[in-house]
Amino acid sequence: MIHKKYKEKYKKIIFLLLLILFVLSISYSKEILNIAIDRDYPPFSYIDEKGNLVGISVDFWKIWSNKTGIEVKLIPEDWKRAQKLLMEEKVVAIDSIFKTPEREKYLIFSKPIFKINSNIYYASYLPKIKSLNDISPYLVGVKEGDSSIEIAKSINLNIRFKFYKNYSDIVISAMKKEINVFLMDDIPAQYYLIKYDLIYKFIQGPTFYTNYLHIATLRKNEKIFTIINEGISKISQEEINQLIKRYMPEREIHIEYISRIILYILIIALFIFLLLLIYNRSLSRRVKIAVSELSKAQVTLKDEVEKFWYFFRGITEISSLTIHEEDFLYKALDLALKILSKPEYGSIFLKEKDSIKLIKTIGHDKNLEGLIFNKGDYIGPDKSIIVKDILSIERKSKDLYMKLKTLSKPIKESAIVPLKWYENIWGYFCLDIPKESNKFYDEGDLKLLEQFANTISVFYAIRNYIKERETYLSKLIIILVKALEYYDIYTQGHSEKVTKYAIKLAERLNLPTDKIKKIYWSAYVHDIGKIFIPQTLLNKPSKFSDDEYNFVKIHPIKSEELLSEVEEFKDIAKIIRHHHERWDGKGYPDGLSGEDIPLESRILAIADAFEAMTSDRSYKKALTIDEAIEEIKRCAGTQFDPKLADIFIEIIKEESGISK
Ligand SMILES: [Fe+2]
Ligand SMILES: [Fe+2]
Repeated sequence: MIHKKYKEKYKKIIFLLLLILFVLSISYSKEILNIAIDRDYPPFSYIDEKGNLVGISVDFWKIWSNKTGIEVKLIPEDWKRAQKLLMEEKVVAIDSIFKTPEREKYLIFSKPIFKINSNIYYASYLPKIKSLNDISPYLVGVKEGDSSIEIAKSINLNIRFKFYKNYSDIVISAMKKEINVFLMDDIPAQYYLIKYDLIYKFIQGPTFYTNYLHIATLRKNEKIFTIINEGISKISQEEINQLIKRYMPEREIHIEYISRIILYILIIALFIFLLLLIYNRSLSRRVKIAVSELSKAQVTLKDEVEKFWYFFRGITEISSLTIHEEDFLYKALDLALKILSKPEYGSIFLKEKDSIKLIKTIGHDKNLEGLIFNKGDYIGPDKSIIVKDILSIERKSKDLYMKLKTLSKPIKESAIVPLKWYENIWGYFCLDIPKESNKFYDEGDLKLLEQFANTISVFYAIRNYIKERETYLSKLIIILVKALEYYDIYTQGHSEKVTKYAIKLAERLNLPTDKIKKIYWSAYVHDIGKIFIPQTLLNKPSKFSDDEYNFVKIHPIKSEELLSEVEEFKDIAKIIRHHHERWDGKGYPDGLSGEDIPLESRILAIADAFEAMTSDRSYKKALTIDEAIEEIKRCAGTQFDPKLADIFIEIIKEESGISK
């Protein structure tokens, strides 16, 4: 019985031991790790609206527990207090802590879990902040016990910190504008800035430190450290990324913000539109003005071009030296009226000693031409002037006053422009705007007129100079020819008469003016070479012997030699050389024939022969006109160009009244 009793007792002891073992094994497997965690480090760990601890780290520990089978109790505290719990060994580890050299002295750190950048955040209205050195002027918000304090101080000792218990307080303070710069880790900062709608009001400045969140234990607690690290190894990076993604709030497009932006854009766009509208209006007005000015300018330009061409053609015409002086002045007046367009009538005056003479007038009565204005009868300004109602001006001569009144058309305004050569006034333009016209002269008109007057003066002076020079030369030649005629008494008047005939023939042939001019002078001096022939021979009363005749025959060559001395007479010299050539080639000095003989020389030959035939000579009597005509007719085709001979006979017959 006793044996049975002990057996029962042993059974109970064994059962109890097994129970203790079971309880122990259970209690071992149900080991709980107390871990301190920041209660305000969103999105890693924070207390939600319902008072629950939530966040990336909280979920991280759930995964860790699942993978290891070890229960974890997270103890949320203020960060400073959380660190204190670890130091007092009231927890085995602390979560979400940066590794710093200072902390490494007494803590061991797990593998890095989350990468974190510590940044400067500053209000968008501040100047750009490039580094920690730029934040000295500002009060900088920072979380108590944050590792960024230690790092920032190592870079810039002058930073003035304002400490806050948690990140949330920093951001709220920034929202109230108590601070405008703060240091914060990027993920929590982004969380709060989005949460408090400050993402557009604060700029994420430069990163001054990059670190990783670890789990740390006291150095002496290596066993726990190993357990924690092994657990971390079982969690993949993909799982960690998923956690971050789950807790980072979506950056919502804030309607209010966007609508404000849209409103600003709209206001700016409206303002720009209004500006453009105003600018467009003013531009279109300016364009209209410019277009109208341009079309006016185009008309003016067309006018000016026309005037220029008229001026050019007119000047070319009046620059012709053969034009008669009065024609020259008339054309000049006409040109002045056309160039100016405002005046419709005008007169041109030439200055005489103490008076001026009205040479030509356009528009007024032609009977004014030739009127002399004595002193006191005219205005003779040194510079161009505008005169109102010129006809009402008192004149010394009442007769002249009346003549002007009756023969002139009513005048509103006149421009009087002196015609000057250097300082000498040689005449005046007087250009009149009709009484009924609505036009007036201006300064520009006077300037244009003065310029025109200067041009006219230059041509007038050149013209007079050449005319004088020509007159001078002509007079010299005439004297020379007269000298020859004194020398050779039988040729007296010969040159003049030959000239007369030659010119008639040349004009009938419609030769150009310059050719006629050359024929004139060659006829006049054609026998000048006779000056080299002894006077006794020239004036011999009987016929020449052959030798004497041969000697006389050198005179065309001598004439040519003499005239060739002067450059301007070279053409004339050539005409004269051939004035004794014959159509049939039997003439002298070169025996030229037909059209090889210059036309001018052929004309001269007929005129010369006809004059010789119709004049008395010491050795022969003059032929009658009829006889001379017959002689020319007979010699046409042998001595003379037959066509020229026919025309010449025609002219002589016409002049002498002989019927055909
Ligand atoms: Fe001759
Ligand atoms: Fe002659």
